[in-house]
Amino acid sequence: MDSNSLFNLQDYLNRRKGLVDGHLFGYVPPCEGPASTLFEAMRYTLEAGGKRLRPICVLAGADFVMGLEPPEIERGDWAGSRDPGLADALLRAACAVEMIHTYSLIHDDLPCMDDDDLRRGLATCHKVYGEAMALLAGDALLTHAFFTIGQIGDPFKERALDVVRELADGSGAEGMVAGQAVDLISERMGGGTESHLEFIHRRKTAALFRASLTVGGILAGGNAHDLETLRSVGETVGLIFQVTDDILDVEGTEEELGKTTGRDAELGKLTYPGLLGLETARRRSSELLSKAEDILQACGPRGIPLSVLAGKITQRRN
Ligand code: IPE
Ligand code: IPE
Ligand code: MG
Ligand code: MG
Ligand code: MG
Repeated sequence: MDSNSLFNLQDYLNRRKGLVDGHLFGYVPPCEGPASTLFEAMRYTLEAGGKRLRPICVLAGADFVMGLEPPEIERGDWAGSRDPGLADALLRAACAVEMIHTYSLIHDDLPCMDDDDLRRGLATCHKVYGEAMALLAGDALLTHAFFTIGQIGDPFKERALDVVRELADGSGAEGMVAGQAVDLISERMGGGTESHLEFIHRRKTAALFRASLTVGGILAGGNAHDLETLRSVGETVGLIFQVTDDILDVEGTEEELGKTTGRDAELGKLTYPGLLGLETARRRSSELLSKAEDILQACGPRGIPLSVLAGKITQRRN
């Protein structure tokens, strides 16, 4: 049976985005006083919007471990609806992931990196607040993410330590930051091989998707096998996400994406369409989707939401 017919993805995404947004700004409140501009800059790119896919993955990782099936999810159930303590822990972790992602966007757009003027449909953070304040807003969002996780209370406190390790691994020098570094090194060297390209994409984007699904699974008490499944699906979905981002930079529109298109070619970035052509890039994305679907199919009905989400990421227009 077509899994799409079992699961209304758009409703699910809207509801989960609402859940995340309903808490995110509470964890990063406005602040009066001498540092008010810093808080304004932190909130500016958060409030500009975004799909909130990574925090949605945190919640989805927990649902997977708790064995929630499509009819329950359609009713609005989620792992946190079964335990208020778990809900608090999951929402903190989900919003922390969004803070880390948003910091990465603010820094990615800086003139010393991709030098972009448009993000989430608005002027980039440094265009509004200046480069130094944008740099600091990114630093503060990254740090605040770990502060937010540090406030997870008993009985989930012990699991929070594993969450910190997983997220630091996905976003730091073994993960996203390494990918961003090699992205810039390749740009400056004027190219690279397919294995460099995969190195970049696995780290700059896939590692945070991997960590997102996994931390949800950790907080929900997942066993080693479930956590390995989430890591593997998360990394594959993250790769699909970045291959599609590269494709959309070529054939998407500024209106749909809320960011300037054609930048990768202008900057000489190492990308899938740039190195292998659009057709091969599309083929790579559907091969990756089949890999994720195969893993999830073996998990039964609880794998359906993630499988539908992976399909959507392959076909996304923004
Ligand atoms: C953009 O991520 C950065 C990449 C890793 C390609 P998203 O496309 O998820 O950006 P938002 O959060 O929806 O703005
Ligand atoms: C960014 O990749 C990955 C990050 C870790 C932010 P891109 O540079 O392709 O992202 P966009 O296209 O600017 O959103
Ligand atoms: Mg970049
Ligand atoms: Mg960029
Ligand atoms: Mg891009």
